[in-house]
This record gives sequence, structure tokens and C-alpha cells, in this order.
Amino acid sequence: MIYFDTAASYPLLPEVKIALNNAFDDSYANSSSSHTLGQTVSNAVETVREMLANKIGAYPSEIVFTSGATESNNIALKSLISESGQVGFKNHIVTSQMEHKCILVICNYLERSGYKVTYVNPDDRGLITKEVINKAITDRTALVSIMHVNNELGTINPIEEIGRLCCENEILFHSDAAQSLCKVPIDVDKQNIDLMSFSAHKIGGPKGIGAIYIRDLRANPIYPVIHGAGQEEGLRGGTVAAPLIQGFGAALTHFSKYYLDFEGTNIKDYLTNELTKNKITYFVNGTDALPHLVSLTLPETDTQSLIVANADRLCLAQGSACSSKTMQPSHVLKALGLSSEHSFKTYRISFNLNVNKREVDFLINQIIFWSQK
Ligand SMILES: Cc1ncc(COP(=O)(O)O)c(C=O)c1O
Repeated sequence: MIYFDTAASYPLLPEVKIALNNAFDDSYANSSSSHTLGQTVSNAVETVREMLANKIGAYPSEIVFTSGATESNNIALKSLISESGQVGFKNHIVTSQMEHKCILVICNYLERSGYKVTYVNPDDRGLITKEVINKAITDRTALVSIMHVNNELGTINPIEEIGRLCCENEILFHSDAAQSLCKVPIDVDKQNIDLMSFSAHKIGGPKGIGAIYIRDLRANPIYPVIHGAGQEEGLRGGTVAAPLIQGFGAALTHFSKYYLDFEGTNIKDYLTNELTKNKITYFVNGTDALPHLVSLTLPETDTQSLIVANADRLCLAQGSACSSKTMQPSHVLKALGLSSEHSFKTYRISFNLNVNKREVDFLINQIIFWSQK
């Protein structure tokens, strides 16, 4: 299989596999237990907490482990809901049309609970600007949620500017960093971030583990998502998933080095240059995207047949999703202004870190073949 879908999930890094095996063999005790083995596991968990905190300029006490970015996004946005469930004066949320689907669904839930939500659009570079947020906020805005890197385009939003604007207006700022951790620098103080979501499987870690950063969590405890025996600062009850956390730790340690080596291959330029050389009509959606991701529209290629003919060879995402058995254009491409026809003709290609030219040549040859039909 040729895997061009790492934006959906990376394969496990070899170091992560070893860390997981060791952890499942040796770290089977409950990290809440007071005996020696329990405390060893607890120390291993705290080491990873510290590692993530250091990576983003936070304190370990501000990091809560979750099952992934979806759960972290739920915690971030639902943190507005008080124990009484009453919606106060600050009942307005600003987010964007290009957020991950889970943010849109959570916002929809909050709208049904009495909140007002403004969904801003990206500009034609695929970016959410400070200006568009400035226009959307009001004296009732409680929270702004804008993702760091978009998962379909790979574009990097100016979160530092947006964070400063939120700070000046005393509005909480949340950013979904599922796609940016270990790929783009994060500094929660410099970028004025109050809440941030992470996921391990986007950096070669295991699925089912992630984290949320919550500024000054101990000073501002938020309503628990899962009531339990006090784990994770009382926010998320349940036995801590210590082996998965150690796998996450190995990914945090090793992913950046692989990513840096990958950047040097300039494989995205190779792909687009070859398409140009072969006179294939195409355009790229979004400007200055991360090097492992390209959203490529091929208006004159039979993109659907290419996928069907290579179902056993190629894993690659399309700019459309199957919803209730009908094909729907991607909400991100729609927000960017693409027609449904162009969305259906779009691939999201996200390279593996050890991709080779032979694999990219296979895709290029298929695009050439299905452009001549
Ligand atoms: C931007 C973004 N947010 C959230 C998620 C959901 O992450 P998880 O699978 O860890 O719940 C993803 C993954 O698809 C993503 O790309």
C-alpha cells in the first residue's frame, strides 16, 4: 500500500512501538496506587506531562491527558458551561468554517444550549486573519476557537495575532493544535493561548491518547467532563492510560527529528513540478502549507476512477466525504470558495515521513493516465 493519508493518522514510529511494548510489559500497575510499581508508572506519566509542557512553554500542572483532540476540543468549548447550566451575559463564541468537524458539531450543540456562534470564513489563502476575528467579536464574546494548522489544507493560521487580540479584549482563546504539534513552534505564553488541544496519533503516537492545555488550571478549575476518583486534576476521572501516555512521550521525543529530515526531501515540489512538466491542469488550495500536505485540485482528471482503479494500492483522501450515503463536498473547500465540482476533483495528499520518489511517481503516472481518458 502507498500511504498518502498521514494527516488522518501517522503510522506508529518505531520508537513508539518499542515504548508501547515496554510499557504494556512493565507499566501495568495503576498510576494512582501508592506501592512502588504504581509510583514508577506515575513517575513515567509525569515525565511525559513535563515533556509536553516544556514543548509548548506551559507548566505540567496545566496539562490534562485525554483520549485525543476530539475530547480536548469538547473540554475546551464546554468549559464555558457552568455547573448550573445557565448561560450568562457572555454567551457568544467565535470560530471558523474551516475547523475540524468536531468543533462545528460541538458549537452546534452549544447553540442548542443557548449560545450564539459566529462562523468566520478563511481568506483566499486559506487563512483566518486577526481582522476577520476582530470584526466578529462583541462585548458578549466568551471564547474564540481557531485551529493552528488546517487538516485539509495544511495552512498555518496566525494564532499569535489572534491570541493577542483575544487577550486585549479579555476573551478566552482556544486553538486546536492536533495538526501542528511537533511541526510548527508552539509557545502558549507568546501566542496568548488559554486552551489548546493535542492528539498523539498525528505525530506517530498511538490512537486514543491526547491532551489539553488549560492555562492556570489549578487557579481556575473547570467543570469535570468525567466525574470520577479525582484523576487528572479532577477534570477527567478514570484510570490514567499510562502505556498510551508513554507511547505519546516517545512520539514527542522522536517525531520532530523525522519531520525535519522529511522537509529536506522537498517531495511536494517534486510532485507539482512533475505535474507541470507533464502539462496536467491543477491548482493547489491554500498558501504556504506544511511540507507534508497538499490539497490538489485536478479539474481535467478522472479523480474518482483513479481512486477506484487503485483501491488496493493507494490510500489518499478526497475533498469530499460520504455522509448519509451521499457524497458531500468538504466544508473546508466550500469555505474556501471551491465549487462542488472542484471539491469532488480534489485530493488531500499527506506524505509519510519515509515516502520515496517511486511512490510519488506511481501517483503522478496515475494522474497522467486518468487525465488522458
Ligand atoms: C484538526 C483536528 N482536530 C481534531 C481531530 C480529531 O483528533 P482525534 O482523532 O485525536 O480525536 C483531528 C483528526 O482528524 C484533526 O485533524
